[in-house]
Formats: sequence, structure tokens, C-alpha cells
Amino acid sequence: MKKRMSFEEIDEFAKKMADYATENTVIALIGDLGTGKTTFSKTFAKAFGIKENLKSPTFNYVLEYTDGRLPLYHFDVYRMGSAEEIYEIGYEDYINNDGVALIEWANIIETELPKKYIRIEFSYIYCDECENIREIELEYIGDTKKEEEMLEYVGFSN
Ligand SMILES: Nc1ncnc2c1ncn2[C@@H]1O[C@H](COP(=O)(O)OP(=O)(O)OP(=O)(O)O)[C@@H](O)[C@H]1O
Ligand SMILES: [Mg+2]
Repeated sequence: MKKRMSFEEIDEFAKKMADYATENTVIALIGDLGTGKTTFSKTFAKAFGIKENLKSPTFNYVLEYTDGRLPLYHFDVYRMGSAEEIYEIGYEDYINNDGVALIEWANIIETELPKKYIRIEFSYIYCDECENIREIELEYIGDTKKEEEMLEYVGFSN
């Protein structure tokens, strides 16, 4: 489902997603440069109970945080040359480790994502006074039942 949201609404959405996420949840964050993937991750992490500020994992691809409700693995695979490269950093261990994975630029490793994952796509909207608004698409890939439950949980309706 797609929804237009202000930055404030996106922050609230990130907090609700942090409450919703459970063991082995994989969240794919997709969208052009500057659409809000990192900001979403930071708000999510704070609501998830992580005390320190998220740092950019751009050069090491993944950073791990263990002081939240569950372990959090924050990936940014923007600089990855190929999807297969993800295995060189222990990807399978991270996503099967009873934690939550947030993956910025997940489209780059789309072929290696699990059968079921939450997909959030951020898009710019082009109009006057739209710079603080994004279109957000929220889906649960591979699980329509969970998708319904999730949309309800986060109050995602038009
Ligand atoms: N929810 C938000 N609240 C306030 N500002 C935001 C929000 N989302 C995005 N921004 C603004 O847009 C800028 C870029 O956002 P962000 O770094 O989250 O994008 P990104 O998708 O991670 O970009 P990149 O792909 O380049 O890493 C932020 O520095 C901030 O100024
Ligand atoms: Mg980013």
C-alpha cells in the first residue's frame, strides 16, 4: 500500500515499525538518494531501545547494535558491486540470528533477500511545498496475511 506522509508522520511510522518488528524480521529500505532511509533507520533504532546514535555502515556494509529490544543489524549496501558480495560479510548469519535487519539500498541485493521480508520504498513527490513529504510504499513480500496484520498495526491506510 502507498501513502503520502510528512516527515513527522514518517517518524511516527518508523516508531510503530520498531514496535512491530520481531525475531528475524528483515526490512528492506529502498529509495533514491536523500529520500529518508537513514533517517527512518535512526528513528527506528531509537524506538527499538538503542541508546547510541546509528553510524553510517557505508564502508563496512553492516553495523550491529545489541542494546535494543533485540539485536539490530543495520546494513547499507549502496557501495556493493554485486548481490553475491553480501555473503562475504556473514549475511546469512545476521538474518537468521533472531535479530532485526534494516537494509538500506536493499534493491541492490534483491535476489538475495529472504522469501519473506518487509519492503519499504521511499519516493520523492514533485510539487510546490512537497520537499518534506514522501510517498511511502509498505509491503510484506511473500506473506499477504502478515501484510494485512502489519498495515493494521501501523495504521497504514489512505
Ligand atoms: N523523517 C525525516 N525527518 C526530517 N528530515 C528528514 C527525514 N527524512 C529525510 N530527511 C531529510 O533528508 C535528508 C536525507 O535523508 P536520509 O539521509 O535519511 O536519506 P537516505 O535515503 O538515507 O539517503 P542516502 O541514500 O543518500 O543515504 C536528511 O538529512 C534530512 O535533512
Ligand atoms: Mg542513507
